[in-house]
Amino acid sequence: KEDIYILAVESSCDETAASVVRNGREVLSNIIYSQIDLHTLYGGVVPEIASRKHIEKVNQVIEKALSDAGITLEEVTAVAVTYGPGLVGALLVGVSAAKAIAFAADKPLVGVHHIEGHISANFIENKELEPPFICLVVSGGHSHLVVVKDYGEYEIIGRTRDDAAGEAFDKVARAIGLGYPGGPKIDKVSKEGNPDAIVFPRAKVDGSTYDFSFSGLKSAVLNYLNSCEMKGIEVNQADVAASFQKAVIDVLVGHSMEAVSQYHLNKFAIAGGVASNTSLRAAFEKACRDKGLEFYHPSPVYCTDNAAMIGVAGYYEYCKGTRHGWDLNAVPNLKL
Ligand code: KG4
Ligand code: ZN
Repeated sequence: KEDIYILAVESSCDETAASVVRNGREVLSNIIYSQIDLHTLYGGVVPEIASRKHIEKVNQVIEKALSDAGITLEEVTAVAVTYGPGLVGALLVGVSAAKAIAFAADKPLVGVHHIEGHISANFIENKELEPPFICLVVSGGHSHLVVVKDYGEYEIIGRTRDDAAGEAFDKVARAIGLGYPGGPKIDKVSKEGNPDAIVFPRAKVDGSTYDFSFSGLKSAVLNYLNSCEMKGIEVNQADVAASFQKAVIDVLVGHSMEAVSQYHLNKFAIAGGVASNTSLRAAFEKACRDKGLEFYHPSPVYCTDNAAMIGVAGYYEYCKGTRHGWDLNAVPNLKL
């Protein structure tokens, strides 16, 4: 059987990334140009700056992905690209580049859903993992509990009603003076704090077992900070970070374990930027061990945005026969 090489491009937010993946599970190259330093100045991602930087970097990143993989464009089987969801201007850069390359080299074009990419990151290092399983996708833009029924076949059983988990991390980090990007900073300072120091709410969404809500938690943290200021009490940054983080993790673990039981699945995976959180990984490790479940998680580099995960998802889409035309457009609110 002939090898299938997917050249993948990802530019949905603030990472310009390209990768070559062989036969769906073997990453030959994984190039990520992170714009984080650029956006840190502004305390968050500035869409216009992200688009401009993507334009500057996209060709270099693609060239490096091919050369690191040791293959030529002619040897590529198909070109995969994230076409949503994400920032429209940012997405357009990757989509335009992928279309131009695929057209010029006469290769099939496969559009990929960003969340399908995050989920598929689990296939890279867990060669034995096959659907069905349940996956919790927690990133800056999404908090989804997904039943992965088969490759490319998903049922979303829970989603956030307001803020995404990563968004809550970023907003709380800003409020306690940790700056951007908040997730990794809260992860780090939490290790010095007491997670039981402050009791923050664990929100339940009425009438929906698996939906999430994090904006109340964020407000509770802000209220706590305000009341400390009014009373002249010094805020212990590490305690607030650790207590907030524990509240998020408790809800994520609770919902996930309930879903696994109800759907009678014995495999559980996590994905997305927040899945690189060390306390969250430890909590899921324990919860899955207690329940006798197989627990899967990508390495941190495959949790945050990257193109290797798009190459994996692109491979399974390609095998299913998914092909996109030259009219492929960026879809900022693309549904899974
Ligand atoms: O998946 P991702 O790179 O981009 C999106 O698709 O949104 O996720 C980025 C999010 C950010 O909100 C960031 O703060 C969060 O993931 N994040 C973390 C950690 N590393 C990144 N959150 C908690 N702990 C971390 N270690
Ligand atoms: Zn992402």
